[in-house]
Amino acid sequence: MLSISPATRLVKLTAAAGIACLAGVVEPSVAADGWFTQAQATQGQQYFNNQCAQCHRPDLKGAAGPALVGPAFLATWGNKPLSALYTFEHTKMPAVNPGSVPPDQLWAITAFILEKNGFAAGSAALGDAASSRVLTSK
Ligand code: HEC
Repeated sequence: MLSISPATRLVKLTAAAGIACLAGVVEPSVAADGWFTQAQATQGQQYFNNQCAQCHRPDLKGAAGPALVGPAFLATWGNKPLSALYTFEHTKMPAVNPGSVPPDQLWAITAFILEKNGFAAGSAALGDAASSRVLTSK
């Protein structure tokens, strides 16, 4: 399923990245329409290490649980609304105690996972308001 706006956004971001490269600017990717705040993703890493990393590893490459980074992860969750991923995490994870992670922490964890999959930081925190956004543009 392709909708116009994420594709358009991707083109814009790609163009912006190209310009940044030409100008020799090397900065963390912070897009106006990014997905989460950098602070949220950084906080999410702490929560992830405490509550998810024992099965998914701190580098998200997977152990008892599957990898949460890379092509297989994106093949499963890409092109779906963010809510699909969040709902899975909320209802099934952590596998030993599903639903035990408070929403604000789980959103931060999700921000960290998206960051590790190449999605850009922006000015707004990830949360319910972004639920219907499709996981395509980075
Ligand atoms: C006790 C081990 C364990 C812990 C802790 C755990 N997971 Fe998992 N996780 C699994 C297993 C096993 C699966 C595969 C089960 C399935 O797909 O139904 C999985 C699957 C997933 C998936 C789907 C991956 C995919 O592409 O199919 C996500 C996302 C996920 N976990 C996120 C989390 C998050 C976020 C946390 C921490 C809040 C967490 N998990 C904690 C074991 C664990």
